[in-house]
Amino acid sequence: MKSKDIVLSGIRPTGHLHLGNYFGAVKNFVKMQESNECYFFIADYHSLTTHPHPDNLQGNVRQVLVEYLAAGLDPEKATLYLQSDIPETAELYLFLNMNAYLGELERVTTFKEKARKQPNNVNAGLLTYPTLMAADIIIHKATKVPVGKDQEQNLEMTRTFARRFNHMYGTEFFPIPTAYNFGQQLVKIPGLDGSGKMGKSEGEANAIFLNDEPKVIRKKIMRAVSDSGPIEKNQPKAEPIENLFTLLKVVSKPDVVQFFDDQYTQCNIRYGDLKKQLAEDVIAFTEPFLERIKTLSSDEAYIQKVLDMGAEKARANAQKTMREVRQIIGFRKIYS
Ligand code: TRP
Repeated sequence: MKSKDIVLSGIRPTGHLHLGNYFGAVKNFVKMQESNECYFFIADYHSLTTHPHPDNLQGNVRQVLVEYLAAGLDPEKATLYLQSDIPETAELYLFLNMNAYLGELERVTTFKEKARKQPNNVNAGLLTYPTLMAADIIIHKATKVPVGKDQEQNLEMTRTFARRFNHMYGTEFFPIPTAYNFGQQLVKIPGLDGSGKMGKSEGEANAIFLNDEPKVIRKKIMRAVSDSGPIEKNQPKAEPIENLFTLLKVVSKPDVVQFFDDQYTQCNIRYGDLKKQLAEDVIAFTEPFLERIKTLSSDEAYIQKVLDMGAEKARANAQKTMREVRQIIGFRKIYS
């Protein structure tokens, strides 16, 4: 039995999936699709706010879709689609923008950051990023939105816009969605550069991607930051070492972790051995993903079928919402 919650999340079509994305989000999406009505989409409209002339929009989108499918998203269980396949979202975005104010949009942290990063392209899409995100969410009447910390303010805006619509037209039409961050289930994966979490902005070598070949993984892990080793027994671990152990814990057997932990405590650990073991265990973990990525990438017909299926389901649902929204506001009926 699926629960009443409607789960929705958007995925930025940039870069390859790494272990941090997998353990921090995707693994939970895969779990959620079993027991909830789920919508997961690739936010390709949104990508124009920062990349107005994408050189390979279709290619990027396709690659992101392939990697999420390889990671376990299932088009039979969740609705997987492209944002731009649901133009109804743009209509809702327009309506929401009529009641979104310059002051509140200018105060959004992600807007301020992006405006600072691209001072020559502070476009209206960037400013109204939160209204488009709100449209994405409420067009499916989503109730639970799994997002990272950096998106919580945007989600707060969605709640504001949904409430404002309801209030303005005297309805309870849109449910007010809540951010969902997995709480305890969330595993924060550190990067290989000794501090902070795994991320692509810290450089290629900091992250292990699901599509990395074994030899690339070996190289990255052997080069990971460590230290000169403990000098006395039971010494606490420095961050880079703690990070290697965190990685070991997610991919290796408990007795392997215990073995190296004991060696560390006893002051006779050899980081080279730990890294070799870690590399082999990471490879054993990622190899099935890599295989599926390769198989799916060459199956154009299947990819198109997934996109068509998702577009059809998501669009039918979006049109149902927009039929009612147009009626609530007072426009003519255009969706059958
Ligand atoms: N803003 C999100 C991000 O940068 C992507 C996104 C777009 C999204 N629309 C959404 C996330 C709707 C959740 C719901 O990661």
